[in-house]
Amino acid sequence: MTGHCMLIDRATARDLPAILTLEQTGFLPPSRWIDKSWLPELTGSHHFTPAARDDEGVVRGVAAFQLIAEVADLNRVVVDPGHRGRGMGRALLEAGLEWAAANGAERMLLEVEWANEPALALYRGMGFVEITFRTNYYGAGRDALVMQRDLNKLGESTR
Ligand SMILES: CC(C)(COP(=O)(O)OP(=O)(O)OC[C@H]1O[C@@H](n2cnc3c(N)ncnc32)[C@H](O)[C@@H]1OP(=O)(O)O)[C@@H](O)C(=O)NCCC(=O)NCCS
Repeated sequence: MTGHCMLIDRATARDLPAILTLEQTGFLPPSRWIDKSWLPELTGSHHFTPAARDDEGVVRGVAAFQLIAEVADLNRVVVDPGHRGRGMGRALLEAGLEWAAANGAERMLLEVEWANEPALALYRGMGFVEITFRTNYYGAGRDALVMQRDLNKLGESTR
């Protein structure tokens, strides 16, 4: 993060165009979300969508979290390719973990493609552990790992 400005706040429906741009640059077509996928994340009462903005206020990263009873889910996280490796992904996850714990979640779950090394490294570094996998979750031959993070001891394994 050194030398880079970043602000984390809550994305709203006004940020949808910027978020769809992140989808274009951050994901390949079969995995891309469209406006219909994002709108409930941005407007639902059990959702939290932190945005990472650069010093001009442009959204360069976004994540989507959802709370269902005592379990929080990370539904999405993407950082603009030109702004990766500066701690935005970690900051977005930290914001989501804090929101989830503050709202009574006991654990957070996520799915990640087993070959997505940057995302796996991010999640492992933040204390997520693999609990199972889902065969062909992202299409033929593309398995998902399911990872979990206990929120009762929030702070112990984040940096
Ligand atoms: C995964 C993603 C969100 C990470 O965002 P980021 O802002 O670059 O991540 P950070 O700079 O906060 O990095 C945090 C940690 O993640 C890991 N990491 C990030 N990029 C990495 C890479 N290219 N290779 C290996 N590890 C990486 C490192 O452990 C890093 O910690 P370090 O900087 O101390 O080494 C980003 O690569 C992305 O948008 N990918 C495309 C979308 C995607 O795959 N989303 C996840 C779907 S499950």
